[in-house]
Amino acid sequence: MNYIILGPPGAGKGTQAKNIAGKFGMVHLSTGDMFREEKESDEVVSKLLSAGQLVPDEIVVNMVKKHLEKDDIIKKGFLLDGFPRTVKQAEELDVVLKSKNIKMEGVLLIDVPFEEAVKRIVGRRICVCGASYHMTLLPPKEDGKCDRCGGKLFQRSDDKENVVRERFAVYERQTKPLIEYYEKSDTLIYINGLKDEKDVFAQISSCIANGL
Ligand code: AP5
Repeated sequence: MNYIILGPPGAGKGTQAKNIAGKFGMVHLSTGDMFREEKESDEVVSKLLSAGQLVPDEIVVNMVKKHLEKDDIIKKGFLLDGFPRTVKQAEELDVVLKSKNIKMEGVLLIDVPFEEAVKRIVGRRICVCGASYHMTLLPPKEDGKCDRCGGKLFQRSDDKENVVRERFAVYERQTKPLIEYYEKSDTLIYINGLKDEKDVFAQISSCIANGL
C-alpha cells in the first residue's frame, strides 16, 4: 500500500504519518525530516528551511528517488509526507512510479485553516529524539524537558510566526495546485484536520483499511 499525505503546514501530516505507518507497517518518508537532518551539513538547505522556502525540485526529487530504489521500502509500502509539494514534483513522481510499476492507492488531504495551523505550530517544541510537544495543548511534564529522554526542548527555526506566514503563502502558491492535479486522477481523499488527533487517525485508518 502506498499513500501520499498532503496538507498545509501544521495540518498534522507528520503526527498522523508516524502513527499510520506504524499501524499498517508502511515506511514513513518525510522530506521535511530528511532536510532537517541535512540542515546541519548543508548551508543552502538550512537557509531555505529557515526562510520557509521550498528546496529546489531537482534536489527533492533525486532524494526521494534514492529511497524508492530500496527494495524493502517498496515491499512494505510507503507513506510520503511533505512530498510532492509542487506540480513538477508530482509529475516526476508519476514517471518514477510508472517506470517501477508501483501503484499509489490514494492522496490523503488533511486540511486546517491558517489560524489553527499558526496556533499549533507557534507553540510546538521538539526534541532531538523526535518527540513533539505543544506549550499549552500538549506540554511536557517538566517545563522545557522531554518526557521521553530528558533532552532539552527547542523550537524549529521555521516555527516562528513570520516564517509560518511565509510557509503558508508558499503552500497556497506552490502546493495547492496539487489538489486539482490529484482530483483529476480521482485519487484525492479529504480528511477533516480540525478534529482531534485520535479522530483524524480514525478517519485515515478507515480509508486505508477500506482500500480507498
Ligand atoms: P515539513 O517538515 O514537511 O513542514 P510542513 O509541511 O510545513 O509541516 P509541519 O511539520 O509544520 O506540519 P505537519 O502538517 O507535519 O503537522 P505536525 O504533525 O507536525 O517541511 C519543512 C520544510 O522542508 C519546508 O518548508 C521546505 O523548506 C522543506 N521541504 C520539505 N519537503 C519539501 C519538498 N517536497 N519540496 C521542497 N521543499 C521541501 O503537527 C503540527 C503541530 O500540531 C504539532 O505540535 C502537533 O502536536 C499538533 N497537532 C497535530 N495534529 C493535531 C490535531 N488534530 N489537533 C491539535 N493539534 C494537533
